[in-house]
Amino acid sequence: MNGRILHVVGTRPNFVKAAPVVAALRTAGCDQVLVHTGQHYDERMSDIFFRQLSLPEPDTDLGVGSGSHARQTADLLVALEGELTARDPALVMVYGDVNSTLAAALVAAKLGIPLAHVEAGLRSFDMAMPEEVNRRLVDQLAELLFATSPEAVGHLAREGVDPARVHLVGNPMIDTLLTHLNHFDPDAARAAHGLPERYGVVTLHRPANVDDPEAAGAAARALTEAARLLDLVVPLHPRGRAALGAAGLDGAPGVHVVDPLGYVEFMSLVRGAAAVITDSGGVQEETTVLGVPCLTLRTTTERPVTVTHGTNRLVGPDELVPALRKVLDGGQPAPDEGPPLWDGRAGARIAAEVTRWLDHHA
Ligand code: UD1
Ligand code: UDP
Repeated sequence: MNGRILHVVGTRPNFVKAAPVVAALRTAGCDQVLVHTGQHYDERMSDIFFRQLSLPEPDTDLGVGSGSHARQTADLLVALEGELTARDPALVMVYGDVNSTLAAALVAAKLGIPLAHVEAGLRSFDMAMPEEVNRRLVDQLAELLFATSPEAVGHLAREGVDPARVHLVGNPMIDTLLTHLNHFDPDAARAAHGLPERYGVVTLHRPANVDDPEAAGAAARALTEAARLLDLVVPLHPRGRAALGAAGLDGAPGVHVVDPLGYVEFMSLVRGAAAVITDSGGVQEETTVLGVPCLTLRTTTERPVTVTHGTNRLVGPDELVPALRKVLDGGQPAPDEGPPLWDGRAGARIAAEVTRWLDHHA
């Protein structure tokens, strides 16, 4: 087989999704380069994932860092153009819907390098979300599109994407979860955070919930109220720290705000939780597989399979407390069957398609 594969990752969810793909392509004997854009750079947002998920050290860290959308994307474009030109890959692989994903897709298109998109076809139909803009554009540019759910395949078909390019492969984020399942220790994680036996886990970082002080205030009030029913541990993404802190979340009775956690500690807490409250994409999927009730503080989800085949419910801040009460009363049971192909084999399926593609094209 010929041709180098260049993976572009930059953020926490990218690392969780890329790990099983990189591992499966290594097993297949592929020539791979791993480029970290540096969009996330704190030890707890980046390095710890490389160690825990056995991702190889990046071949390059572009150190792009934070900024406005325009500045960050512009810096990503310039840095990635140099990197892709120098590395001369046969295929660029991108993950999810973050700014690093879009920038890598645009640079690959401008340089005429074929692109593979892992987690293609998700749609929230809310163009106010930066991720929706990113994923729609990336899907238009990709030669190989790897979908995690039948709905995603349907969205791509309706947008006119050639079905021969689209492959339903399952969910690499769930490969990572199943690989590490035996390392999740809820009792140890609970004890380390001084939590009672019954507790909840909260993550919030979407701009719609944490950037606007009014929205952050509504979320903080709802969580403070929810904490009267259930102690809540809140590993807070740096994006939400200031606004949710100013809104009085930190220090509320029963609310334990902590720094972002490494993957194993975080998933240990999620596994043992009575409920999870979140606006994360990945956490909606992980709770579905673990059978942990999930209340998503959003008006839309690009992952409806977590509602139809999982434990997820969308709630507004005003609905949170009654929804949590229902969960704690056992009124939100998990369905019998999870989403199709979320079986820990997505990385292997992607590697099989990629190597087949390289054999014909590189
Ligand atoms: C990004 C993604 C979002 C994804 C999230 C995962 C985009 C448009 N958004 O959002 O889809 O759900 O990652 O976590 O790409 N910061 C730090 N340390 C870090 C990284 C960020 O302190 O290591 C702070 C900076 O103040 C920065 C802010 O967080 O300005 C936001 O970071 P950024 O990468 O721009 O977006 P996220 O909110 O992390
Ligand atoms: N995660 C973690 N520690 C945390 C919060 C999240 O390890 O403190 C993991 C978890 O597996 C989650 C993934 O990081 O699914 C992606 O996180 P995030 O919510 O930031 O991104 P999104 O999925 O919303 O894009």
